[in-house]
Amino acid sequence: MEGELEWRRKDWVDVYGIPMIAAFSSNWERIKNFQARADDIVICTYPKSGTTWISEIVDVVLSDGDTDKSKRDAIHMKVPMLEFSAPGQVASGSLVLESVPSPRMIKTHLTVSLLPKSFWEKKCKYVYVARNPKDVAVSFYHFDKMNQLHPEPGPWDKYLEKFMQGKVGYGPWGPHVRDWWELRKKQNMLYLFYEDMIEDPKREIRKVISFLGKDLPETIVEKICQHTSFKAMKENPLTNYSSVPSAVMDQSISPFMRKGIAGDWRNHFTEAQSERFDEYYEGEVAATDLSFSLLGLGSTPPNARLVHEIKDP
Ligand code: PPS
Repeated sequence: MEGELEWRRKDWVDVYGIPMIAAFSSNWERIKNFQARADDIVICTYPKSGTTWISEIVDVVLSDGDTDKSKRDAIHMKVPMLEFSAPGQVASGSLVLESVPSPRMIKTHLTVSLLPKSFWEKKCKYVYVARNPKDVAVSFYHFDKMNQLHPEPGPWDKYLEKFMQGKVGYGPWGPHVRDWWELRKKQNMLYLFYEDMIEDPKREIRKVISFLGKDLPETIVEKICQHTSFKAMKENPLTNYSSVPSAVMDQSISPFMRKGIAGDWRNHFTEAQSERFDEYYEGEVAATDLSFSLLGLGSTPPNARLVHEIKDP
C-alpha cells in the first residue's frame, strides 16, 4: 500500500516542541480544532504505561461487567486514539471520534500542552495511568522495534540515553506524568499507577467503578479482573492488537502484549545504567510528591511497595 511506504520508519516530527510520530503529525489542525464533549471519558497516558489495560477496564465497567458486550469490537475501535493518523491508509482517530455516539471513550498520549483546547472548556472525565519509567523505557524500546510507524530504536544503551533526553515519541516522560499529576487538582481525574494495578487489580478496578459513578458487586469486580488479566488480554484477539496489519505492528518482532509485569527493567538495565537512570528519575520527581515503586537496584521488598491512596485535591 502506498500509505505504508510513505510513513514507514520515519523520524519523529516536532509538533510544538514534542517529538511526534510522523504519520500522526500531519494536519495537526484536526487536533487543535477537535471538539470534546462534556461526557467524554479521556484515557491519557505516557506511551507504554497501561493504556490498553485501563481502556478495557473502563469499557467493561461502563457496561456493568457485561463481558459479552466488550466483544463488540477491537480495543482500538472501541477506544479510538485521538491523534492517530496514517493518511492514505485509514481514517484518522479524530474523524472516527466525530461519529462515535456519546459517551465516548478517547485514548490519547498527548501532553497536557498538546491536548485540544475544547477539552478544558468541557467537564470531561480523565483517567490517567503512570508507570515506573524504567519499565516504560524497556516496553517503549520493544514497541519501537515492532511498530513500523516509529523510527528504528537502535541499540538499547543509546536508546536509553535518548529516553532520558526526551528524544522519543511524545517527548520526555517526566513533564508528562508531572503535568497530568498537577492537572488532577483542577480536572475531574482519576490518576492511577500501573504498579498498583499489578499489585492489586481489584482494588484499582474498584477505584475506576467508583470514579465512573457505578456501584457493582464483588462478583462483577472479580469478573472484570479475570477478563482484564494479562493472560486473558494477551489471548483475546480484540485486545492483543492482532487485527492490526503486520505492516504497521510486526508482532513477530515483539508482541504488543509482551510481559505485562512490573520490574522487567531488571532484565535489561546494567547496574551502571540503573544508577544513572535513578539520578535522572530523582531529578524528574524531586519537586513533586510523585513516587514510583520498583526503582532502585532491586532491593525493594514486595511488601514495601508503594500504594497510592490519592486524596481529593
Ligand atoms: S500503548 O501502545 O502506548 O498504548 O501501550 P500501552 O497499552 O500503554 O502499554 C503496553 C504495556 O502494557 C502491558 N499490558 C498489561 N500489563 C498487565 N496486565 C494487562 N492486562 C496488560 N495489558 C497490557 C503490555 O504488556 C505492555 O507492557 P510490556 O512491559 O511491554 O509487557
